[in-house]
Amino acid sequence: MPNSKVFVTRAIPADGLALLNGQSEVEVDVWPDMLPPTYEELTQRVRDCAGLISLVTDRVDAPLLAAAPNLRVVSQMAVGFDNIDLAAATARRLPVGNTPGVLTDATADFAWALLMAAARRVVEGDRFVRAGHWKAWHPTLLVGLEVHGASLGLIGFGRIGQAVARRARGFDMRVRYYNGSGPVPEAEAASGATYAPLDTLLAESDFLSLHVPLTLATRHLINATALAKVKRGAILVNTARGGVVDQAALHAALTSGRLAAAGLDVTDPEPLPMNSPLLQLENVVIAPHIASGSLQARTRMATMAAENMLAGLRGDRLPYCVNPEVYG
Ligand code: DGY
Repeated sequence: MPNSKVFVTRAIPADGLALLNGQSEVEVDVWPDMLPPTYEELTQRVRDCAGLISLVTDRVDAPLLAAAPNLRVVSQMAVGFDNIDLAAATARRLPVGNTPGVLTDATADFAWALLMAAARRVVEGDRFVRAGHWKAWHPTLLVGLEVHGASLGLIGFGRIGQAVARRARGFDMRVRYYNGSGPVPEAEAASGATYAPLDTLLAESDFLSLHVPLTLATRHLINATALAKVKRGAILVNTARGGVVDQAALHAALTSGRLAAAGLDVTDPEPLPMNSPLLQLENVVIAPHIASGSLQARTRMATMAAENMLAGLRGDRLPYCVNPEVYG
């Protein structure tokens, strides 16, 4: 591979950086701050690079790509890539990699953590105790909703949706899913989930969990119209992307009682501004986009992103490429 400079937009886990640093032809430039580079800083840093390792926080759009004429590969350390203008990359025959599979279970585990926390008011309880409000056991103190035996509706039934469904078996739940591209019969037996139209899921599920990518078709899929169809008192979990939910409509549903609670790992925007009305609500659990954040998953994601990068720099096909048409 010719001498190649790679910009990495944050200090990714050490195994991934070690792979890159182990190549003498690769010059690695790592953004050192906890906060991401601004769009202008990113554009400036990538200008003379052959490779870019990006994260979900980095806007990689057509002007940025145009400002980096030597770029040969973009490797995203995430499974989602809605921050990247894929059409612009593809038009330039620039391969874009991602990290599918290795974060499936970590993300499914976390969707369950949010579901359980929202249903059983775990975070509210913690706040209550720390504030010194806990004076005695009381029959109606912080009562929540039962999870076992309830119905779970999965919106999106790819790897992560299926992993969430498999976990629901242990809770004896009735699991149904909606999938934009239709039923996935081969995954039904392993997960015990069955297909249902979106409106049926909305109307009949006690818990709804979102597992769709953010696209033009899924932006605000969960809007006021959808939320008006939701079973009164249901709980919504979002580990997909904040933009899938219309947040104003979500706030209205959480205050009217249409939704009993929500568990959110993702918001729109991220981070939420401190004056967001959602932060005033007791019945929302909000995490800072950490569903894939197990040590193991993040290490594998970094390694995979580095492997994609090195393959691209060598001129080989990326092991995980989201625009394989660039090879056609
Ligand atoms: C992803 O991979 O798309 C997550 O949102 C970050 O891990």
